Amino acid sequence: MNASSEAGLTIETLRPRVLSCTRCPLHETRSNVVFGEGDEHATVLFVGEGPGEVEDQTGRPFVGPAGQKLDEVLASVDIARESVFITNIVKCRPPGNRVPTKPEMEVCSPYLEAQIALIQPALIVTLGNTSTQWLLPDAPGITKSHGTFYAWRGRILLYPMYHPSYLLRNPSRAKGSPKYQTWEDIQKVRKWLDEYSAVADA
Ligand code: URA
Repeated sequence: MNASSEAGLTIETLRPRVLSCTRCPLHETRSNVVFGEGDEHATVLFVGEGPGEVEDQTGRPFVGPAGQKLDEVLASVDIARESVFITNIVKCRPPGNRVPTKPEMEVCSPYLEAQIALIQPALIVTLGNTSTQWLLPDAPGITKSHGTFYAWRGRILLYPMYHPSYLLRNPSRAKGSPKYQTWEDIQKVRKWLDEYSAVADA
């Protein structure tokens, strides 16, 4: 699928295609496809790895424990979840929450590419190493790349952050901890968004 060359494709006409996908074996074990949700005209697109158990049960991205952590991170800088778009590299849950395989990501990524082409975000926030390395293979590992704005395909910026699940496994708030750094990182997103909106509104 090449969304940019497909006239008339919209998020709403893309959705049923993704929901009925049987292109990879993950469709055999899923309960629901997790297409993604949020503002179709969002300035910021968040990209995680793949749905977890609660996401698989509900068909919604980041609504389980990692999602609650993401909501907290967003709320800390007054970013409404509904004002961004949230999706994943793979739209079906890898069994046992394993990392999606390269073939699974390859087969599924045209859907993400179509979402990017349709939403046209100005900033893509990748959550964790998997989505960061998938979209920006040359990026250093997440402990180095988080909190850095990378130029990505022309005018889009890509900004890696720690995956919220990693924060759940590392609850310390001490200075320099992943949680502390994430609070710093999201404040940089807030600042970028304020500056971007000021220019867009001018
Ligand atoms: N982890 C992810 O990467 N994505 C989700 O939607 C939920 C948990």
